[in-house]
Amino acid sequence: MDSVVQQCTTDFLGRKIKKNMKRVLIATGGGDCPGLNAVIRAIVKRASRERDWEVVGSIEAFNGILREPTEIKVLDEKAVAGIHVQGGTIIETTNKGGPFAWPVKNKDGSWTYVDRSDEMIRKLQYLGIDAVINIGGDGSQQISQALYEKGLNIIGVPKTIDNDLSATDFTFGFQTAVQVATEAVDKLVTTATSHNRVLIMEVMGRFTGWIALNAAIAGGAEVCLIPEIPYRIEKVLERLQMRYSRGKGHAIIVVAEGAKPVNGNVIARKSEEVGYANVQLGGISGQLAQQLKEAGFEGDIRQTILGHLQRGGIPIAYDRILATQFGVKAFEMVLEGRFGEMVAYRHPEIISVPLKDAINRPNLVDPNCNLVKTARGIGISFGD
Ligand code: F6P
Repeated sequence: MDSVVQQCTTDFLGRKIKKNMKRVLIATGGGDCPGLNAVIRAIVKRASRERDWEVVGSIEAFNGILREPTEIKVLDEKAVAGIHVQGGTIIETTNKGGPFAWPVKNKDGSWTYVDRSDEMIRKLQYLGIDAVINIGGDGSQQISQALYEKGLNIIGVPKTIDNDLSATDFTFGFQTAVQVATEAVDKLVTTATSHNRVLIMEVMGRFTGWIALNAAIAGGAEVCLIPEIPYRIEKVLERLQMRYSRGKGHAIIVVAEGAKPVNGNVIARKSEEVGYANVQLGGISGQLAQQLKEAGFEGDIRQTILGHLQRGGIPIAYDRILATQFGVKAFEMVLEGRFGEMVAYRHPEIISVPLKDAINRPNLVDPNCNLVKTARGIGISFGD
């Protein structure tokens, strides 16, 4: 009994733990996406197969570490049981603030952003954190790289429904978003048909058209407008008119939030939320409806903005599996000491790539890729 007591120590949570216990901290940053919980569960399950590792989660990205009192959750097998089927993230997330731009309110009500990264690294040392796994999109992985350059043992796991990271064939969450968008097109087709209408559906994706392109093919849309192929309204109109005869007809347009007309701009605005660095996209479906009317389209048009429905809810099987592969690989990278790297999927393998390469280049739709050719092959117009 005595020898067991001697090998134990009291940790920062007041728990008696083994003296040589190692600890990995998980953070989920940026917008949530289906599959985050499946990654967390996979990390915990893989870690539990090693004798001396435990997993903790920082609440709301790194904010849990930066806050006083510290907001950390112990992630054992009980805490993650069955969570692979749940959307969202059990440790919460944010796309505001962070260690390099922590918002501090001035006396006059304005905000200053301070760099608290050194302080955070010291706190992680104090908490006995040996390694960090940061699950997030491009913004979060830029933070990972900057923390790595400051000496933190950190590994990245890519996530986003937008699929806009070039280092990996797919990010988890993307296929679920495509499924949601496709089911929405299926629904819009029936009401478009009954009313002889054009239904415009706007989907997410930021500056890439992956969700729009995939949902347009799977759902059988007539028009697909994506950021990578600027559109001409006359071309869109031409395709719609092919679907109408003596006022009867219907059509579906899937438009990515980042789409823009030739010589036009993406609809984007600066957020008023404190600490929100990204521009907010959205509204192209309304502009498109107006442009079609101005160009002479006489039928009825309605718009649907799918919004956060694409990010919420249960991940489909594909995303649960990819997320689980990413989680297991991430923990194994911790064991191998592959810090400064990010998990990636390169069919059929799960590999690791340097973080600095991963954040270099966005994954845009190549207008000459097979998916675009396939779409054109079945008569989908890109308005070009
Ligand atoms: O990056 C994921 C994403 O859902 C984008 O497709 C979208 O533009 C953005 O996040 C929306 O962010 P928020 O949830 O902050 O409104």
